[in-house]
Amino acid sequence: MGFIDNIKSDFAQMRGVVEASSRGRFRVLHPAIFIKVIQFAASQHLSPRQVALAVGVGVFIGVTPLLGLHLLISIVVASSLRLNKLIVYLAANISNPFLLPILMYIDFQLGSLILNGSFETLSVDLIHKGVDVWFYQILLGSLVLGPILGFFFGLVSFFVLRRFERIGKTGLFSRHRAIRRVIGDAFKKYSRFFSGYVRGKLLLDPVYVDCLGLVPGPSSILDVGGGVGLFGIYHQLYYGENSTGSKLVLDWDDKRIHLGQTVAEENSWNIEYKKSDVFNQVPCGNYDCILLFDVLHYQDVNCQKLVLENLYQRLNPGGVLIIREMNADYKIRNFFTTFLEKISLKFSFTKASDIHPMSASNYLDLLRSFGLSVSSQSCVKLPFFSNYLIVGKKTLSSNS
Ligand SMILES: C[S@@+](CC[C@H](N)C(=O)[O-])C[C@H]1O[C@@H](n2cnc3c(N)ncnc32)[C@H](O)[C@@H]1O
Repeated sequence: MGFIDNIKSDFAQMRGVVEASSRGRFRVLHPAIFIKVIQFAASQHLSPRQVALAVGVGVFIGVTPLLGLHLLISIVVASSLRLNKLIVYLAANISNPFLLPILMYIDFQLGSLILNGSFETLSVDLIHKGVDVWFYQILLGSLVLGPILGFFFGLVSFFVLRRFERIGKTGLFSRHRAIRRVIGDAFKKYSRFFSGYVRGKLLLDPVYVDCLGLVPGPSSILDVGGGVGLFGIYHQLYYGENSTGSKLVLDWDDKRIHLGQTVAEENSWNIEYKKSDVFNQVPCGNYDCILLFDVLHYQDVNCQKLVLENLYQRLNPGGVLIIREMNADYKIRNFFTTFLEKISLKFSFTKASDIHPMSASNYLDLLRSFGLSVSSQSCVKLPFFSNYLIVGKKTLSSNS
């Protein structure tokens, strides 16, 4: 494709995205455009840094008074700096009909400050100065305002995208979005309520995505108190044909086990479900990964320790034991987490009698005493929850 063809296709792409976003007159201002930009960034596998740089440069261009040339400048500059052209151009639309007068006024005053050492009062006399003087003054001012605003919007974009990236809320992680949709739809046929719950849970709870990296495709997985087996399903969809290891979900709730099994069978997801009281029945087999997501706190501390000791024996060398729990040390945040848990028990959504939160340090000490190398991190998207993740890795030389 030649240079002209490239530019033509860039124009077409930009027009397409802008038009697809809104039919309004000031369509570049429509909020949908931001979603489009983020989706576009996702499809191009752009990192927050690349997007932020493109936004910064685009804003700089948009602040200059070279109206009518912004599209061309965006394409030329973005091509030379290897930035995304569409994002640069969209960011240049900061000079939209609403903001343009304000931006030009600030440019004008900054230009005056540089040229005359003071701001200029707006008066009729200014008309006599001539357009070229105005233009020069505004251009000069834009060379100061542009970098400041570019830096500011670039930085904001970077942090917002980084945050969204973690939350997995935007199109940036369209793969996760697609997986959430597939899982939600799979449950819809059997329970609308559960489908809604699953969608909300997958969107707001980072634990499934956070743990994917710790559990490679071929791992054999034991999900203790796994409910409908959300992690196994997510793992299967995320790794696709590389999710080759066995997956066993243990739970004592008939309904969850039955629902999970039905949905997994219908979709040919390779997951086995077994009804089991995990605090009183020691599981058999050996696993590369044992998960305990939000389940230990349903039993008293001694029982939890015993279960962990038994599970440690079932871990293959090099395997990981992953615990997600509420942290009793975070008093205020734990109040919210406990409150929601109690509601869930009260309305029999979760089958258990009471909760016994432990502090994270207790779990860490316990896993260390087994000889596991441990790490921990917070595992929440919403700041008022106390959940954290503890990962214990068994050494490769370990035999027991
Ligand atoms: C909060 S849910 C978490 C489900 C799953 N781990 C997840 O994160 O998607 C807690 C689960 O633990 C199960 N559970 C509680 N006590 C149990 C026990 N003694 N034996 C087996 N499952 C139990 C409940 O039935 C419920 O499915």
